[in-house]
Amino acid sequence: MTSETKHADTVRERFTATVDKFNAFAGTKRGAEADHLAECVTAGLLDTSALLAVDVACGPGTLTFPLAARVGRVIGIDITPAMIESARGKAARKGLQNVEFILGDARSLPFNDGAAGIVSCGFSVHHMLEPAKAVSEMARILNPGGRLAIMDLVLIDSPNPAANNAIERVRDPSHTTKQTGAQFRALYAAAGLRVLTEEVSERRYDFDEWMQSAGSAPGDPCYVKTRRMMEDTIPDDAAGFHPSYSATTGALEFVSTILLLVGEKTK
Ligand SMILES: C[S@@+](CC[C@H](N)C(=O)[O-])C[C@H]1O[C@@H](n2cnc3c(N)ncnc32)[C@H](O)[C@@H]1O
Repeated sequence: MTSETKHADTVRERFTATVDKFNAFAGTKRGAEADHLAECVTAGLLDTSALLAVDVACGPGTLTFPLAARVGRVIGIDITPAMIESARGKAARKGLQNVEFILGDARSLPFNDGAAGIVSCGFSVHHMLEPAKAVSEMARILNPGGRLAIMDLVLIDSPNPAANNAIERVRDPSHTTKQTGAQFRALYAAAGLRVLTEEVSERRYDFDEWMQSAGSAPGDPCYVKTRRMMEDTIPDDAAGFHPSYSATTGALEFVSTILLLVGEKTK
């Protein structure tokens, strides 16, 4: 078994076990971000009614549904069958006719060259072992002038990227590595994409909610270990999460840094 195959199994295991919890987290915490991405990636396009958008690593459809309101047709693709089932159920409940969800791998997208006008990928590159392969696949299926929007966790001026990634990996073994802003820009350039929009923002998260979305509750060995690692960094913010206790509730909180990068395929 290759390390890629083994990692894909880990991703499927994790996101099958946490499909409902992740769905609840994404539904309450990521709606505004998803709307914003859909708005940014379609900004200035005169007629989007005939466009095909492909949402790679779509999960429960967090980015897929806001895109469906703005383009002709959207196909969400994900490697985890449970996520595809969840997304299909949502589409059926919403009565949407222009959305489809299919099983597939970002490393080998089942689309012809130039098939899509828009490709999106939310909060998933940090689960991939070969980000360059995935970004070049996403660019391959774009038509010239088509746009790629990636929204993901990012390292900006992190004092110790290894410490940051170690905390993420203990919480969720399917986490691989966060890219820096410069690394994301280099991936775009190598894939023939010109950057149109780059935005970095910070989200303050409740530690317990964040652990719950990955299937861990207080007292679990994974919860205890992740919390200890996060708390150990409070004095010097060694991992760049800016962890602290809420002045009102005393709950442990931290900051996650997010990048939105929209690029255009130049030829
Ligand atoms: C953190 S979730 C993000 C889901 C959704 N895009 C969102 O923003 O809420 C990560 C998703 O990436 C999927 N995934 C990870 N690696 C993948 C790959 N190589 N190909 C397709 N999907 C992948 C997982 O199955 C999971 O559904």
